[in-house]
Amino acid sequence: MLDLKRQYQPLQAELLAALEHVLQTQQFILGEHVAAFEKAAAAHLRVRHSVGCSSGTDALWLALAACEIGPGSSVITSPFSFFASVSAILRAGANPILADIDPSTFNLSPAAVDSALETSRAASTRAILAVHLYGQPADCTAFARIARDRNLFLIEDAAQAWGAELQGVRAGGLGDIAAFSFYPTKNLSAAGDAGMVATNSDSLAERARMLRQHGMRRRYHHDELGWNARLDGFQAAILEVKLKYVDGWNQMRHELAGRYRALFNAAGLAESGTVPRHGVILPGEAPGSRHAWHQYVIRTTRRDQLREFLSARGIGCEVFYPVPLHLQQALKPLGYGEGDFPEAERAAREVLALPIFPELREDEQQTVVGAIADFFS
Ligand SMILES: Cc1ncc(COP(=O)(O)O)c(C=O)c1O
Repeated sequence: MLDLKRQYQPLQAELLAALEHVLQTQQFILGEHVAAFEKAAAAHLRVRHSVGCSSGTDALWLALAACEIGPGSSVITSPFSFFASVSAILRAGANPILADIDPSTFNLSPAAVDSALETSRAASTRAILAVHLYGQPADCTAFARIARDRNLFLIEDAAQAWGAELQGVRAGGLGDIAAFSFYPTKNLSAAGDAGMVATNSDSLAERARMLRQHGMRRRYHHDELGWNARLDGFQAAILEVKLKYVDGWNQMRHELAGRYRALFNAAGLAESGTVPRHGVILPGEAPGSRHAWHQYVIRTTRRDQLREFLSARGIGCEVFYPVPLHLQQALKPLGYGEGDFPEAERAAREVLALPIFPELREDEQQTVVGAIADFFS
């Protein structure tokens, strides 16, 4: 599914030198390496500020808390995402409201958000949390319009979307504030847990910096209840090295996605639309957007059998995510049930992620598609 050693080998000398520099300076928490990475990351994303932190989950919480979203506030988001998209809202003390996804992108549907906002449940809504799932930018043009009309914050969960773009604007600059994850499997990855908040707002960036350090603006003077959500020097040093390569890696992911499409078409397996019949539906790029291809996710009605078949042949594949958030045990108290979000539920039954990472070879892609062709024949 993913071979991180192939990324490490050519970077070994550069990464070890960066780690050695952290040891020489003994700046382990925040400090010069974090500051240097933050500066480079903000320039890369073309945003005014980036604030390094301890994980993508903490970045989501920091983004919400920076917007002063807490008890008494609601936030609308997608039921088809990683758990943290919703748990961070609860961790901030706010109430998550869910709306269904667009089946062509797997992302939160603006029409569903509009409908949800008409319900009494949504009266105290303060923000839309749009997840760029699999690296495909959510429809932030529509969400920005809704947010403007209703005076809401637009928060991006860009954990999977480093380098994705919508109308030439990079994920991270599409809303008021964004959260990134550098979990080791991500397009830009640390050697452990790490995350970052990005924003063009001076005041939100200042609040995020204060909140990641126990609410301190002045040492040992605590203005608000923050938390320890700091980034460490080793992770920042690694991320600063990898940042130089990530555009090239994303270009390779883009080419791999193109090759998958060509191989599936040549095998006669690709179907159009969003409802699979006898073959597979391939992922595409939404109009005006550049997908970061964090995952390459197909749909099929025979997902579980295909997954078993590929696993038996030693081919990595994964289901992101088998249970939509409204049906998770931990989120039962939200009061949603089966049938509330039919597109999210169908996606959870049909999606299968295939291997995609910059160093994946052409022969390996041929093996994957060949095996899928054998399965369907
Ligand atoms: C969509 C999404 N949101 C949030 C997160 C949380 O990031 P982290 O694992 O760095 O806490 C992830 C990472 O897995 C994610 O995929």
